[in-house]
Amino acid sequence: MQRTIIITGGAGFIGSHVVRLFVKKYPGYRIVNLDALTYAGNLENLADVENAPNYIFEKANILNVGEIDKVFNDYHPDGIIHLAAESHVDRSILSPLDFVYTNVIGTVNLLNAAKKIWLTNNQEAGSRNLFYHVSTDEVYGALGQTGFFAEETPYSPNSPYSASKASSDHFVRAYGETYHLPVITTHCSNNYGPNHFPEKLIPLFINNVIHKKPLPVYGDGLYTRDWLYVKDHATAIDTVFHKGKIFDTYNIGGFNEWKNIDLVKLLCRLIDEKLGRQAGESEKLITYVKDRPGHDRRYAIDATKISKELGWRPSVTFEEGLSETIDWYLQNQEWLKHVTSGEYQKYYDLQYSKQ
Ligand code: NAD
Ligand code: DAU
Repeated sequence: MQRTIIITGGAGFIGSHVVRLFVKKYPGYRIVNLDALTYAGNLENLADVENAPNYIFEKANILNVGEIDKVFNDYHPDGIIHLAAESHVDRSILSPLDFVYTNVIGTVNLLNAAKKIWLTNNQEAGSRNLFYHVSTDEVYGALGQTGFFAEETPYSPNSPYSASKASSDHFVRAYGETYHLPVITTHCSNNYGPNHFPEKLIPLFINNVIHKKPLPVYGDGLYTRDWLYVKDHATAIDTVFHKGKIFDTYNIGGFNEWKNIDLVKLLCRLIDEKLGRQAGESEKLITYVKDRPGHDRRYAIDATKISKELGWRPSVTFEEGLSETIDWYLQNQEWLKHVTSGEYQKYYDLQYSKQ
């Protein structure tokens, strides 16, 4: 079947895995990667598919209505998978407004663009049209020692990042209710894997262990996250995109809770083994530092609905995923060097702007 799908944020961490999966799995689909290439967007992530006949890159900013409308009018997508966002909690504490602009206003701009091409003259959208919004479990707030986030859990965002994502979720839902724009939202737990920008816990700590730099554990280190391998998130998005119920929401998670300090010790052990270092050597790098303000104590996703209704399950165990991830970082020191120095920005100039 021929389809045209715009994937926003396709040059980022999760987006690049979603783009790759769709480009390879659906040769009949035209995949348009719409990305502004902020500090987090890196086309090197997609070097292996950039020449695929069904892949197109469009540099556009979701805050620029003219740029988005042009891409929508040029390609007339029947599906949109929206991942573009400011995604790092610590940055949101330093500059909340950036998160309001990109995550809230950028999302509303995209909803308007979809509405314009799908719902002209009060028509209903076509049966294949779908605006798929990729959200986070952080909109539900923090859990105590027990319990899970379900789809019905009330919103209670605690950081500027999660407040901006919650707001964008509400706009997506409101466009479904008010204009019958066909929408679906998913809420995923913490992702990890290749191409993760080294500002987030796992890639930052892998990089620091490799270079024997301190590992800054926030607060008492007993905060808990539910980790999912990024390639499993991509298959979940594929499943929901093709089989999910319009106007519904789904939680995605790994049933894989780890306290930060236990995860950090596991990382140290695995890297020490791989690099032939003495047992316990890298753990000495652990440094407890001042806590993140408003730090959510525990996240845990109940992913029963997506598993029962749509048959999706994670395919990779945590030890396998983490081991693959560490190997990827060890083998891609150049990538790490480029993203930490900003050098990757040159890739766009070399590959695209001179064409
Ligand atoms: P990321 O920061 O790695 O990538 C974000 C991408 O969006 C980048 O390619 C960037 O260039 C692009 N972008 C940012 N602002 C833009 C703008 N104004 N116009 C166009 N493009 C822009 O993010 P990620 O970790 O891959 O997260 C992707 C999505 O998934 C986000 O919506 C995030 O909220 C959500 N999410 C992330 C996680 C996680 O663990 N990383 C978990 C659940 C949900
Ligand atoms: O739950 C989904 C969310 O997961 C996504 O929506 C976000 O985009 C993504 O960034 C992630 O948010 P977190 O804040 O959970 O991820 P981060 O990697 O920043 O932190 C994970 C945990 O590790 C958290 O408890 C804070 C802690 N931490 C983080 C860093 C960067 C540290 O102790 N030290 C650090 O240096």
